[in-house]
Amino acid sequence: MTDNPLLNPVTVGALTLRHRIVMAPMTRIRADRDTLAPTTDNTTYYSQRASEGGLIITEAVHISPEGTPIWTIYQNVRDDGGQVPGIWTDTQRDGWREVVNAVHARKGLIVCQLLHAGRIAQPEIGDHPVAANSDLPLPSVSASAIALPQGDEDSHYGWDQPNTPPRALATAEMHRICADYAHAAHMAKDAGFDAIELHAAHGYLIDQFLNKSTNQRDDMYGGSLENRCRLLFEVITTLIDVMGKGRVGVRLSPYLNDPETGAPNATYFGVQSDDAEAVYSHAVRGLNDFDLAYLLLTEPRVGGGLATDPKSDQGFRHPLALRHYRTLYNGMLMGAGGFTPLTAATAITQNAYDLIAFGRWFISNPDLPDRIRHGHDLTVYDRATFYSGSTAGYTDYPESHDSAKAAGYRMIAVADVGASLPKAGQTPEKFK
Ligand SMILES: Cc1cc2nc3c(=O)[nH]c(=O)nc-3n(C[C@H](O)[C@H](O)[C@H](O)COP(=O)(O)O)c2cc1C
Repeated sequence: MTDNPLLNPVTVGALTLRHRIVMAPMTRIRADRDTLAPTTDNTTYYSQRASEGGLIITEAVHISPEGTPIWTIYQNVRDDGGQVPGIWTDTQRDGWREVVNAVHARKGLIVCQLLHAGRIAQPEIGDHPVAANSDLPLPSVSASAIALPQGDEDSHYGWDQPNTPPRALATAEMHRICADYAHAAHMAKDAGFDAIELHAAHGYLIDQFLNKSTNQRDDMYGGSLENRCRLLFEVITTLIDVMGKGRVGVRLSPYLNDPETGAPNATYFGVQSDDAEAVYSHAVRGLNDFDLAYLLLTEPRVGGGLATDPKSDQGFRHPLALRHYRTLYNGMLMGAGGFTPLTAATAITQNAYDLIAFGRWFISNPDLPDRIRHGHDLTVYDRATFYSGSTAGYTDYPESHDSAKAAGYRMIAVADVGASLPKAGQTPEKFK
């Protein structure tokens, strides 16, 4: 045991961890453009961030061509041509096996985050080589045939392409969605992953079923809370059947804060419900019936996490908003969204969470657990290289505090980026 609760060991389902500093799932759009398989650069990136007994969650890994967004919404992706990875072909699985082996070689653990993007999967995938031999019905599908809202007022994601309405999944087709998840889970197991995480958050397929703005069905998958949560629970059952007990995690994201005001009235890709609290509470309570590894919750303040400079990022200084889910869920709870080394430790001390997933700080600090252990300054991330591009901003961040400093990277003291966790309703710390 140490004074810093982030450094204490913890058992998470079937996984034994040496510390509680988790690498959050982060899409980096650098998989092979043609095969959507991980590349050697992807292996290097994950290997650099592995630590003994530390948990890494991969970027969203797509379960099928139908569930794969081709991120042409971003100009730099159009220019650079990287892609998001999948895990339904042998080539993709073999690429992931390299990643897993590299992380295991450093005694780390790695979870594969599985995603079907639903209506966010753009029709272009139908023209992509990896979809050519697919008998999946393309283009995208969702709970109901409702297109993503145009523009960025709703999504804050700068969507600038016309949005083709998705096809509503037929009731009789739902078993096929579960079968696609099962196939991907088998591939992930085969690749050697320690566990898988169901990405049921952030406005993608499962979230589209949970919420009313995207789910206007009148069958057993729409309407009541039970019905809107049905696909979530069916997919979890499917995944546990493949992976076994304690080897499946779930991610949910109730609400999103407006980045300017901090009010919980923004949305992930236009997904919302007037009974959001009721549906997410129902979902979280229902998770107690499963032998999960963990539940990962995205704190709504992450809506403020879009600033280029961490010093002006409100998301690091807003209160936690999901503490009440602790009383609803009996298992291991992981929090993500706007944590700093100091506020993460406080969140664990206060028993808000058992583990903390760090996103952006892990991008620019491959050795984040060590930096936290020693209280070292953090290397500041470059938001411009988050999505797509070369190895710049991907595998070239120095792997120690000293080398980052020597190389002239911009550094920030941990106390300068959010030192205390304000209580609900309390005014956030002022920027320095
Ligand atoms: C570049 C980037 C890509 C992301 N991609 C994913 C993803 O694929 N799956 C997911 O569940 N969350 C994704 N997220 C959200 C992160 O998991 C995390 O919740 C978010 O970064 C907030 O944590 P932070 O404040 O520590 O950065 C992404 C975040 C970033 C910055």
